[in-house]
Amino acid sequence: MNVILGVGGGIAAYKAAELARVLIQRYCRVQVVLTAGAQEFVRPLTFATLTQQKVITDMFSSESAEATLSSAVEHIAVAQNNEVLVVAPATANVLAKMAHGIADDFLSTLYLAFTGPVVLAPAMNDKMWAHAAAQANMAILRARGHRIVEPEDGFLACGTTGPGRLAEITRIADAVVEAAAGTAHDLEGETVLVTAGPTQEPIDPVRYISNRSSGKMGYAIAEAAAARGADVVLISGPVNLPAPRCVRLISIRTAQEMHHRVFEELEAASIVVKCAAVADFRMKEVPVQKIKKTAARMSLELDPTPDILAELGRKKGDRLLIGFAAETENLRQEAARKLESKNCDMVVANLVGTEDTGFEADTNEVVLALRNGEFIEIPKASKREIASEILDQVLKLRLARTAVHGR
Ligand code: PMT
Repeated sequence: MNVILGVGGGIAAYKAAELARVLIQRYCRVQVVLTAGAQEFVRPLTFATLTQQKVITDMFSSESAEATLSSAVEHIAVAQNNEVLVVAPATANVLAKMAHGIADDFLSTLYLAFTGPVVLAPAMNDKMWAHAAAQANMAILRARGHRIVEPEDGFLACGTTGPGRLAEITRIADAVVEAAAGTAHDLEGETVLVTAGPTQEPIDPVRYISNRSSGKMGYAIAEAAAARGADVVLISGPVNLPAPRCVRLISIRTAQEMHHRVFEELEAASIVVKCAAVADFRMKEVPVQKIKKTAARMSLELDPTPDILAELGRKKGDRLLIGFAAETENLRQEAARKLESKNCDMVVANLVGTEDTGFEADTNEVVLALRNGEFIEIPKASKREIASEILDQVLKLRLARTAVHGR
């Protein structure tokens, strides 16, 4: 993938060298364009050495008249030969020029000639970032469909603390890769509520009943939905995964807690994806003290946990409800049964108890059961790819519903 990395003139310009390195690690060919301001902070040689490419520093950099003629159209050639334009750091000045179409240097001229996806990673002083003029420019750029990797809160070079720090380099690199993959913001305006991971039902203060869910499938869905522009709330049992980007994470432990948080968040949700592996039973009573080990056989008296999906099916209103089915056999029949009995709009059935699908695996293979009686088989792929296919189908259901009900 060919990427143009535009570097604005801010203190964070030195971090753009790390971004170039990370993009190269992700198999990108990186063409760097430094603004005049950027060159006050970083040397072209740094980037030329990292990227093994000539670094563009000026609109008219060559000396001879002939060379000047060819460099005058270089911005068109660079625009045509690259798939993604990322600007990091995007300073207030660069953003203002982009918003208003001012083309007075190589980067701003190239921007007007570029037709591919644009990723902007702003960085500036917190007061500048908060200024109405800067925010108005951001609104224009957002409305143009550019991906904004929001600046982070933290210590700024000017000695203050606040929003304005360049986002983590990996976040910017992720946005570039997603932009290149053509991920559309087709879930913008939707609020997606995802549940993921296992629940833990205490037996006593130190023991619990649980299952092997790692959270990977649910987290992949949450992350993919956020990348497609949805507001995402992820209600997760205990897992060892980092919180996905741009997702509001709510951590719970028991099925009862998950039940409580799901119904607390339901009002704002337009789509609910119930991927969590909720324990089906909990202790009738949890002793306050640790159960002592004895030689005698013991049994636990268990009560069923609340069936959250079934209750969602009764209370969903016009929301789309996507359930999961973890099965060891008869995927289609079980998916169709759960679709009906839990009043879902779609059920995602996967085989569990195997090495490379279901619990803990990085890959999965699923059957989608739909209310029109159709089954869609999604062959084995990474959980992120499966998540994307599931969301494609969810979007189709949403569009079909909008066509019928106008919502
Ligand atoms: O987390 P990973 O390691 O990536 O593994 C992914 C997964 C295998 C956990 C996931 O793909 C999956 O199958 N999730 C659903 C697991 C499950 O509990 O399936 P089930 O067939 O027992 O339940 C059916 C549905 O009812 C599920 O949507 C479940 O969330 C829901 N449920 C179940 C019990 C309960 N008390 N309340 C519920 O809402």
